[in-house]
Amino acid sequence: MSQYSEEIERRRTFAIISHPDAGKTTLTEKLLLFGGAIHVAGAVKSNKIKKTATSDWMEIEKQRGISVATSVMAFDYSGHKINILDTPGHQDFAEDTFRTLTAVDSVIIVIDTAKGVEAQTRKLMEVCRMRKTPVIVFVNKMDRDGKDPFDLLDEIEEELHINVRPLSWPIDMGQRFRGVYNIYEQKLNLYTPSKQYVTENVEFKDINSSELENYIEPGQAEKLRSDIELIEGVYPEFDVDTYLKGDIAPVFFGSALNNFGVKELLDCFINIAPSPRPVSAVERVVDPEEEAFSGFIFKIHANMDPNHRSCIAFVKICSGRFERNANYKHVRFGKMMRFSSPTAFMAQKKEVVDEAFAGDIIGLPDTGNFKIGDTLTSGEELHFKGLPSFSPEMFKYIENADPMKAKQLNKGIEQLMDEGVAQLFTNQFNGRKIIGTVGQLQFEVIQYRLLHEYGAQCKWEPISLYKACWIESDNTAALENFKRRKAQYMAVDKEGRDVYLADSGYVLMMAQQDFPDIKFHFTSEF
Ligand code: G4P
Repeated sequence: MSQYSEEIERRRTFAIISHPDAGKTTLTEKLLLFGGAIHVAGAVKSNKIKKTATSDWMEIEKQRGISVATSVMAFDYSGHKINILDTPGHQDFAEDTFRTLTAVDSVIIVIDTAKGVEAQTRKLMEVCRMRKTPVIVFVNKMDRDGKDPFDLLDEIEEELHINVRPLSWPIDMGQRFRGVYNIYEQKLNLYTPSKQYVTENVEFKDINSSELENYIEPGQAEKLRSDIELIEGVYPEFDVDTYLKGDIAPVFFGSALNNFGVKELLDCFINIAPSPRPVSAVERVVDPEEEAFSGFIFKIHANMDPNHRSCIAFVKICSGRFERNANYKHVRFGKMMRFSSPTAFMAQKKEVVDEAFAGDIIGLPDTGNFKIGDTLTSGEELHFKGLPSFSPEMFKYIENADPMKAKQLNKGIEQLMDEGVAQLFTNQFNGRKIIGTVGQLQFEVIQYRLLHEYGAQCKWEPISLYKACWIESDNTAALENFKRRKAQYMAVDKEGRDVYLADSGYVLMMAQQDFPDIKFHFTSEF
């Protein structure tokens, strides 16, 4: 127990993840309404970049503006301090989302009842599973016709590789949607279309009582009873510890647009979701309640103003209390730094704060001192783990298109990579620079930003690559042999680690077979 225990215990830092269009923005907005952080619907802008706008730079700049404003949304609710971390909707920025997930203690996954589990949800869930992040599932759009809820639960289990346990259960769907039975609170939450909120909320311990028919049609009552019986028979009793270990995901049903089922989700969330959890550093595990401050940078957001290269570095506080104007150690530089205007994010406002606690996110104005993964501490030498780079999916050579601006180009590439915009690999054989991304849009962003922020011009040249794998081996001779044999395909990443560039799935498979002593990794941390 430390003097900060109470503050830390009441914090809930999480992200909402979904495939675009499932309802993440709508749900976020309703949560903020409950917290009194905003007062009108429509105040939270969706930060998704519509497909049609891929090359619309006004749109991208606008989105960058929105996404800094909504990067973190904090509010108080029922004695708890809630920090919602926003994640970019566009799949080309998935790497950003992966990193944001390293700064949260839990996650809410939104699934569209009609579409079920979609591609991006699957990918993001992989990261949650890897980190053992506790997840709650919210099945959205119950006011529309969708999949049978049991089938949907099977699909979630199968596709997301996680056990589920419904804590609420829908009564019909679409036009006939009548509400949910809240298994967690043993209440009947009744829904009237167009009323935009729960119209009736009835304590209902025994759904076998004939009183149920006073609220819903006999056919619906009968179906609900048999569904609940089946649920109790098939799914294990809900156990908070299993949820906290990331082994089971409680599931809620509702309609974010109609603000239905959202309060129930939030009430359960604050009860069961974890407060800040211990974080692993290379040196040791850091407990949030330790007196000394520590935190790491998980996101860097460049300023909108191209004339000033200033950024905001987002710090997740891992332990203790952060104080404005106090001296903290920038571990990579080994020097002390002071921050006179750290900002906190309350809904859509950014304001200077005097203090913040483990679990909170603060923004530090920066002019290039930080890169992703940097650690700040009260003085201890700590390096937090868990900010891996993921093997990119698209690759291009980056070349200088203006010989007079080579210096600017190199500086621009370096800083954009520090910001985590994409990954840089340098081919050991010919010295050429290769940029790896998750999607096409990132190449466009890099080119645009190099020109507008650094005055440098780049051009892209195709390279046919399938994957970049980080390699290692306990057998030094085997490693050297591999590097020699594959010399043309060897590169180093920004940190100087060995990376093998495989040009096809087949070639990679053969390499794995032919060189059993070499370990191939698809993330940079292993
Ligand atoms: P996202 O952030 O996950 O991408 O999704 P977003 O909240 O923007 O929601 C996507 C669309 O789904 C929006 O409609 C939104 O109004 C709708 N939606 C969200 N929740 C529900 C729900 O519970 N029921 C129904 N029927 N629709 C829901 P849109 O037409 O794409 O956008 P907008 O013009 O309404 O903003």
